Amino acid sequence: MEKIIDENKQGESLIIEKKAGNNRKLFIESYGCQMNFSDSEIVASILSENGYNTTQDLKDADLVLVNTCSIRDKAEQTVRKRLEKYNAVKREVNPNMKVGVLGCMAERLKSKFLEEEKIVDLVVGPDAYKDLPNLLSEVDDGRDAINVILSKEETYGDIAPVRLNTNGVTAFVSITRGCDNMCTFCVVPFTRGRERSRDPQSIVEEINDLANKGYKEVTLLGQNVDSYLWYGGGLKKDFDKATDMQKATAVNFAKLLELCAQAQPKMRFRFSTSNPQDMTLDVIETMAKYQNICKYIHLPVQSGSNRILKAMNRQHTREEYFKMIDNIRRIIPDCAISQDMIAGFPTETEDDHQDTLSLMEYVKYDFGFMFAYSERPGTLAERKLEDDIPEATKKRRLQDIIQLQQEHSHYRTQQHLGKVEEVLIEKESKKSDAHWAGRNSQNTMVVFPKENYKPGDFVNVKITDCTKATLIGEPIGYSENN
Ligand code: SAH
Ligand code: F3S
Repeated sequence: MEKIIDENKQGESLIIEKKAGNNRKLFIESYGCQMNFSDSEIVASILSENGYNTTQDLKDADLVLVNTCSIRDKAEQTVRKRLEKYNAVKREVNPNMKVGVLGCMAERLKSKFLEEEKIVDLVVGPDAYKDLPNLLSEVDDGRDAINVILSKEETYGDIAPVRLNTNGVTAFVSITRGCDNMCTFCVVPFTRGRERSRDPQSIVEEINDLANKGYKEVTLLGQNVDSYLWYGGGLKKDFDKATDMQKATAVNFAKLLELCAQAQPKMRFRFSTSNPQDMTLDVIETMAKYQNICKYIHLPVQSGSNRILKAMNRQHTREEYFKMIDNIRRIIPDCAISQDMIAGFPTETEDDHQDTLSLMEYVKYDFGFMFAYSERPGTLAERKLEDDIPEATKKRRLQDIIQLQQEHSHYRTQQHLGKVEEVLIEKESKKSDAHWAGRNSQNTMVVFPKENYKPGDFVNVKITDCTKATLIGEPIGYSENN
């Protein structure tokens, strides 16, 4: 692989990996969760073995792939708009370009995509990317191609991802695929299939390889990382059928975190996402034990009302969630916590909504990702419950939640003032070319004068000021981690 430094539109320099001898051009873009961005790196790797290097220019592409998201209707509409754009480019400047859809919309709509969108030549679900070379030869022969089969084993553990749009400092490593939780609002179990975990050895090897290439931070990815369980391969739900030997040597998430933290003591580790029902005390204790595991937990709760949590099929109560929060604060006092919330789930009353606000008051999250409920075809909520909250009410409740979160984010940001915190430099600040930007352990962005530091350095920064979401500081020297 040859590394080329490329200037993208924002003027950020990106390292693009290209394989010598490849003469076809792939334009790949991703929407939705971090897992999709990570999957696109697997796809780019598979295609780089089959004659394709990536390009940043749509007009120049032989093949355009869009990795899609189905989580809310709006996400799907965004993809439909992109398809219109590809259509225009194909019509006006690039008539030979082929277009493929990957990811959750491909899995959800299957062959309907080929009927509904004339521009689409290829439909590939999240577990079928290794079939891309075969599918592309069908497309080369002038036929539409589709593979949306979900797998019990596929984890892509044997594929070394081609890092796309990378800053050369931070990277994602996927550890589980699929989800068994069946939250009633969520389309993911249908589009990404049953949950399976990746071989810890292949995870550690990928991390070692990233460290050798100079990467400094890895985020372990899964829909539900705390449910990670390796017992030799196969679905999580089949663990009961494992042999005694397999059960005795199984690796859970706390153990995996420890393996990663020990394999690369100078690398930072993050993980996402944690479902409260699967998060255990030993994960929190492992985080406390290793300085290189970042003190940040994304712990979506969706609602503060016990009645709604039950209707969502979330397997914990409000009180159990508080207990988890108390444990986190006791074991890791400076841990940042973030949420996902849904406003306007079917049957949600004003009282339920107030319960959500009061839960937020209790936790005072550092960050949040907040959404109006969007009914998804095929989910249990769609089949059993009427989407009965008027759009205006959903919007107003969402606005209440966002406003309260902003107050809490501001409160949390202010708590950093006057402290000295270790920051990993990722890139130039968007607002000033005299400043670096990076994150502290708690995942808050910190901006400070460049001096002689460079991306990838761990720097101790004295926090002197803040906006609602960003910390501003002065560098005082390299941290011990360098
Ligand atoms: N475990 C996953 C969650 C995936 S979905 C993860 O890795 O992030 C991300 C968030 O989208 C959920 O936590 C939820 O808050 C929101 N979401 C999911 N389905 C939704 C729907 N039908 N309407 C609105 N928001 C939804
Ligand atoms: Fe979706 Fe719930 Fe899994 S939100 S991804 S079904 S944990």
